[in-house]
Amino acid sequence: MKETIARVKEIKHFGRSYCQIKLVIDKELKIEPGQFAMLKPVGAFEPLLRRAMAFYQVSTIKNQTFVDFIFNILGRGTQVLAQMHVGDKVEFLGPLGKNFSVLPAKTIQNAIIVAGGVGTPAVLMLAQELCKEKIETTIFLGARSEADLVGMEDFSQLPAKLFIATDDGSVGDKGFVTNSLENFLKQTLEQNKPFNSVIYTCGPEIMMETTAKIGLKYNLKTYASLEARMACGFGVCVGCVVEIESKQDSSYQRVCVEGPVFDASEVIW
Ligand SMILES: Cc1cc2nc3c(=O)[nH]c(=O)nc-3n(C[C@H](O)[C@H](O)[C@H](O)COP(=O)(O)OP(=O)(O)OC[C@H]3O[C@@H](n4cnc5c(N)ncnc54)[C@H](O)[C@@H]3O)c2cc1C
Ligand code: FES
Repeated sequence: MKETIARVKEIKHFGRSYCQIKLVIDKELKIEPGQFAMLKPVGAFEPLLRRAMAFYQVSTIKNQTFVDFIFNILGRGTQVLAQMHVGDKVEFLGPLGKNFSVLPAKTIQNAIIVAGGVGTPAVLMLAQELCKEKIETTIFLGARSEADLVGMEDFSQLPAKLFIATDDGSVGDKGFVTNSLENFLKQTLEQNKPFNSVIYTCGPEIMMETTAKIGLKYNLKTYASLEARMACGFGVCVGCVVEIESKQDSSYQRVCVEGPVFDASEVIW
């Protein structure tokens, strides 16, 4: 377990109720796309438990690691995180969980990312790595409205195709991001060009489930980064289990240790 104390380097509020926080840790940490940390302000009595957050950006300078998180201010845990100030100390447990493996992508020509809401921060590092590996990447971002789109400036700087969909049509296509994905796949496959792709998804469960079904329909391997309520974050409390059904067997697996990234076709949604 990698527990340490981090300090708040920057904190900003934006959109409807979002907060971006940059923490500094006085050591080098190796963090992979899709991993997460458990966070809580030092000295906070309530809530008792740390909250899970996906890494958004990571950089290392002179033995220090800088990590950014973006979160929606939802309940008590995220409220206390959002009320911190530069210099405040944070209990930091991480990196935790299995990453999005870019390995299968090395054998493929294109990759597709489908993300929505506060699932979006979890895929920026993945998108950056896919682009670095020179894999043609198409990104679909969905949100309720323009005010709920997170990380747009960072995603739009990538050498990737970017499609936006909002429920109210305030920006991009009007409707669910999964409709945009399906239209894209129909059009691309009609062109009869070789299309050897993999899908990565993170966001609301219904969006991931629909993405998983589209993946199956078009015979594309799909990986989903699941969210679960977490108490410990490192496999002890068994509070975060999901049902997974592979060809061999069916089992309950811990999102914090065996996940959060799973083969979407094996998840019992
Ligand atoms: C691996 C992982 C990565 C995550 N990354 C991010 C991230 O990058 N940004 C972000 O904003 N959030 C992220 N989350 C979700 C975040 O951990 C929860 O939203 C957070 O714990 C809420 O804490 P809270 O005290 O503010 O809300 P609480 O008071 O605990 O809950 C408020 C409401 O939200 C519901 N809720 C809380 N957590 C979850 C959950 N995990 N799934 C479904 N419903 C929930 C509760 O039932 C309640 O109705 C991640 C979760 C996981 C497991
Ligand atoms: S959160 Fe405790 S086992 Fe996953």
